[in-house]
Amino acid sequence: MAVSRPYPEMPRGSGTDLKYLSGFGNEFASEAIPGALPVDQNSPKVCPFGLYAEQLSGTAFTAPRRDNQRSWLYRLRPSVGHDHFEPYATPHDTLNSDFSACISSPNQLRWLPFKSPGDQHDFVDSLFTICGSGSASTKSGFAIHVYALTAGMDDRCLANADGDFLIVPQSGALSIVTEFGHLEVAPGEICVIQRGMRFAVNPVQAEASGYMLEIFSGHFQLPELGPIGANGLAAARHFLSPTAAFEDRVSSYTVIHKFDGRLWGAQQDHSPFDVVAWHGNYAPYKYDLARFCPINAAAFDHPDPSIFTVLTCPSTTPGVAVADFVIFSPRWLVAEHTFRPPYFHRNCMSEFMGLIRGAYDGKRGGFLPGGASLHSCMSPHGVDVATFEAATASSEEPKKIGDEALAFMFETDLVPRVTSHALNAANLDRSYQQCWKGFKAAQIPPAAI
Ligand SMILES: [Fe+2]
Repeated sequence: MAVSRPYPEMPRGSGTDLKYLSGFGNEFASEAIPGALPVDQNSPKVCPFGLYAEQLSGTAFTAPRRDNQRSWLYRLRPSVGHDHFEPYATPHDTLNSDFSACISSPNQLRWLPFKSPGDQHDFVDSLFTICGSGSASTKSGFAIHVYALTAGMDDRCLANADGDFLIVPQSGALSIVTEFGHLEVAPGEICVIQRGMRFAVNPVQAEASGYMLEIFSGHFQLPELGPIGANGLAAARHFLSPTAAFEDRVSSYTVIHKFDGRLWGAQQDHSPFDVVAWHGNYAPYKYDLARFCPINAAAFDHPDPSIFTVLTCPSTTPGVAVADFVIFSPRWLVAEHTFRPPYFHRNCMSEFMGLIRGAYDGKRGGFLPGGASLHSCMSPHGVDVATFEAATASSEEPKKIGDEALAFMFETDLVPRVTSHALNAANLDRSYQQCWKGFKAAQIPPAAI
């Protein structure tokens, strides 16, 4: 059988010469200069080349061994060498981490594609929060943002003390510089930048846009596989972390720090990307969604979409997530005598969806690449009238959903509160409800009553 997409040997980048370390949560070690990494201990009296040793803790020191995440960084200067932090505001003030004053709405919401603010914006200044719940200060909850950048982060970096970012590019590849090395992330791939890591996002072409999930507690992990067995869904070896790279550059640099829901900025006289070597299991990573191995119904009926979970951030309740990242990727639909598109649904969880490319099989129109929908807890949703009628009249032949479509969902146990700027956005689809108008009532013959 012909394979529609080549799968070259690992590791690989996105058409670049970047080298990556493969594996999920591995104990990695990388050095940009041979001999820069201490071998026998973490914190020698004098590090190789006079580097400064610094630990970055992603979990409490005393977290159980299976959960414990930290890395040791060996750098030209300690990261503390900056001036005082001062409050920093983005030009349009559209970044939220406090949702106490936001509105939770039972209405089904949909946005047409989000556009760039118009003027030149880098990644930080373009951030636009759609919804979220909880707070960074209590380390519980999440936020969902979109970005639309038209400029690189020249001599600026961001670190998020509030949680992890999961970035989903929709248009335009990103070149992401981190303290751990460089990542290039194209649409169809995702990356995760964890709490505390300094990074800068630059467009590979003139501009780029996409989605971002922020979690205020814990870290993303691979879902349990249960009866699926040892294989399937996202494979650990397909997650790629950067290799050490550094620059020794004196410059007027701004370190932007997201802390307790607010942005702060501090000046320093050098690039923060001066880590010559590092080791540990707390490192950013990327993942090519084309490598996801979906499991689906082989005879009849429709599995719950949890079967397509790529990453999850679990809550303290078993089986319940702060947030799941789920994709609807290329796959065969073969279930017989079955309504194959997503079923009509009311969910105790809330569902935010985005579209990376193509057309989603649950909606014929209106849900467009770069747009989004939000179906909050127990708000009914499902396919539109046209999709329902087409699906109920379709043949039983196997059907391929090919590379042309890639949708995703952030699903959360928390109730999303929507920011005022998202509710008032010009691209809010105020006619969304109309797609569910026109369903014909089922007719029960009088003899059957
Ligand atoms: Fe749903």
